Amino acid sequence: MTEEILKISGGRPLHGEISVQGAKNSALPLMAAALLCEGETVLTNVPQLSDVYAACRILNRLGCRSTAEGNTIRIVRESAELYEIPDEDMRAMRSSIMFLGPILGSMKRCTLTMPGGCELGPRPINLHLDAMRAMGVRIREGAGRIFCTAEKLTGAKIHLPIPSVGVTENVLMAGVYAEGETVLTNAACEPEITDLANFLNQCGAEIRGAGTHTVVIRGGRKLRGTEYRVMPDRIAAMSYLCAGAAAGGEICLKDTAPDDMKSCLDVLEQAGCRIGVCGDRIFLDRTGPLRSISYIRTMPYPGFPTDAQALISAVLCTASGTSMLEETIFENRFKHMGELARMGADIRVSGRTAVITGVPKLHGASVTAMDLRGGAALAAAAAGAEGITYLSGLHHLDRGYEHFAETFNSLGILTERGTFSALEHTFSAANAKKC
Ligand code: UD1
Repeated sequence: MTEEILKISGGRPLHGEISVQGAKNSALPLMAAALLCEGETVLTNVPQLSDVYAACRILNRLGCRSTAEGNTIRIVRESAELYEIPDEDMRAMRSSIMFLGPILGSMKRCTLTMPGGCELGPRPINLHLDAMRAMGVRIREGAGRIFCTAEKLTGAKIHLPIPSVGVTENVLMAGVYAEGETVLTNAACEPEITDLANFLNQCGAEIRGAGTHTVVIRGGRKLRGTEYRVMPDRIAAMSYLCAGAAAGGEICLKDTAPDDMKSCLDVLEQAGCRIGVCGDRIFLDRTGPLRSISYIRTMPYPGFPTDAQALISAVLCTASGTSMLEETIFENRFKHMGELARMGADIRVSGRTAVITGVPKLHGASVTAMDLRGGAALAAAAAGAEGITYLSGLHHLDRGYEHFAETFNSLGILTERGTFSALEHTFSAANAKKC
């Protein structure tokens, strides 16, 4: 078997300090927004992830020269003639839909296909298309492709039926090149949207209200590329905090944005962790027992994020008492629960609700990541479990976590990455030496 897996030896309290990566969910729309800019855009603190490289590929196919060096990405649009996102790119990265707004904004036409079938359940794009229609775009479908064209984009009053993060971002990016003013109501308020608006404003756009439910975009300004630092990844931070909560111990995360993580930090405190914040640092101390939480519901920001639902479920598996989790954003986001059960968790799932009854300990097992956050949740559970966990499905983790194994090791979680046979070889060799 040549597939790489993680071998995680858990059950020991954590200690250590790590730096948290830049946010994937901010870096991707910022990269797409570079299509709107003349001159060079330089993004720093970009995490090194497969989704980021997929976004580079899309930019290059659209006539940009994008180059990555460490955590810096430079993007220059060299030609503005290409407006089609090939099907293989649409399928490779589900976030590819966020190129729609900038391509339409800058070219007034865009051809694309449906984003790939998603592990979180169907991921429709109807609200993206409705918002673009409201701005004067004609949309026609044929032969599996979606053709979007407009003579010009016009500012519009758009009310979202649900506060979609991606649609809010697409409207911001299309709106900066529309004629007149766009007023978006029931907009999503996630911090990544504020980051995008800050970037666009730094490039010369005029956007007000980002981070609230009403965003006003005054269109028609030319944007020039700028240098911009991607915000910290609040979900990656929560992933490592949950590993600390599951295993116990004392850890410190630096380069975080604690203000963006209030609902996550509250929930960790309810679960029995002591949390301290100082500037961009978050300290977690979990020496006492974990406590169950009677009810957690995922909600748009500032509520508890859907991306953290799997992570907290890994913590609650060994909390005394019964916890209930309700997933309200995506319909298929409990796939990790079956894998946690393999590690000894007591979980009942019914529709969008999961009931977790705490057990004293989880044990290591062979488990598979079915999606990005579910994979991180299994790794967090493995950190606290007795014995060795073999985690496969790492292509999911690679979409969202930079140097995952190294970061786990820095927290004192013995983690190795390699093929199963190579890891077993080192394991047997070490045991033979002991004998
Ligand atoms: C973004 C995040 C993702 C996070 C999600 C919710 C990125 C790259 N991804 O995804 O990590 O889990 O926000 O915080 O930033 N919907 C429709 N029609 C549409 C668009 C969305 O019905 O046209 C529905 C979705 O199926 C979902 C809900 O709206 O049920 C919210 O999705 P949305 O906020 O759009 O998520 P994304 O932007 O895809």
